[in-house]
Amino acid sequence: MHFKLQSVFSALLLSASVVNSQHIEPFPEIPKNLALAGYKYGDEIPLECIQRNMETGEHKFDEQGNIIYAPFPKCFETDSPLTLKYGVDEIFNCTIDLGHEFFHVFQLYIHEDVPFSCRIPFTKSQTQNPAPPADSPEAKAATLYTSLTFNIRGRVQESHLDIDPFLNVAMVANTSAGSIISSIGFSSGSKAQRFIIGDSLPLAMAVRWYQGPKLPTASEAYFSGSAIFFYSFATFVFTAAICASVFYYYVFPKKLKAELRTTLPLTNQFYNTKSD
Ligand SMILES: *[C@@H]1O[C@H](CO)[C@@H](O)[C@H](O)[C@H]1NC(C)=O
Ligand SMILES: *[C@@H]1O[C@H](CO)[C@@H](O)[C@H](O)[C@H]1NC(C)=O
Repeated sequence: MHFKLQSVFSALLLSASVVNSQHIEPFPEIPKNLALAGYKYGDEIPLECIQRNMETGEHKFDEQGNIIYAPFPKCFETDSPLTLKYGVDEIFNCTIDLGHEFFHVFQLYIHEDVPFSCRIPFTKSQTQNPAPPADSPEAKAATLYTSLTFNIRGRVQESHLDIDPFLNVAMVANTSAGSIISSIGFSSGSKAQRFIIGDSLPLAMAVRWYQGPKLPTASEAYFSGSAIFFYSFATFVFTAAICASVFYYYVFPKKLKAELRTTLPLTNQFYNTKSD
């Protein structure tokens, strides 16, 4: 029963979100007085990350109440903060220092109390016309960014952290505009390593760029961001959920159901779990 309600409910939620998505606005919204110059292949992209209180994980704020960002920690290999290169697929190491404060913040990341949130400029340069004074709040507020969040997995242990330091970084670019549509970094190794306060953490990064808002799937089909596709997909899911529920609960003969439970290992397992 739970299963049926859940699937119908999630299908309803999905279609509700489709109704909302009909109010389409550009993202990011580019102000009229902002002139953008796109990245070119190989251009350096600086990363900056939200600074957090090591006790609570709360953002740090400046006197005006703005969230404080700072460059991504320095990589020992280059002796400078991590940067990416526009359009360049690359594999490299960036070893960072897990000093006292950052180690505690890292515990919060690994425990998934707070996200490891960074951002990168949406385009190479962004010029306001007329230009406000440099470093004024208006100048800072105008910059458009794309978020780059690192989902680093591991376990918080009593005396140390187990961290999977092998990261995939997926970058989605609009190459005709030289902008960055979206990006994400996530642990993908099959091993975790042990780290204590003061250790250095060798992040092994594999960066891969994708052109346009589409990621190839395993079957080489494409997931598209288009509203029409999404609408028909949601309708499909909704209809399928209703059909499946009707078939499973009303049309399937009881006997067949009983048989399925005993003969199919997966179904069997499913019915033996507590959640059912
Ligand atoms: C990264 O570091 C590991 C371990 O030290 C090393 O084996 C590997 O070759 C390095 N990779 C690159 C791309 O430098
Ligand atoms: C790429 O950027 C151009 C210029 O801003 C815009 O017209 C176009 O819709 C963008 N394409 C995608 C896929 O975001």
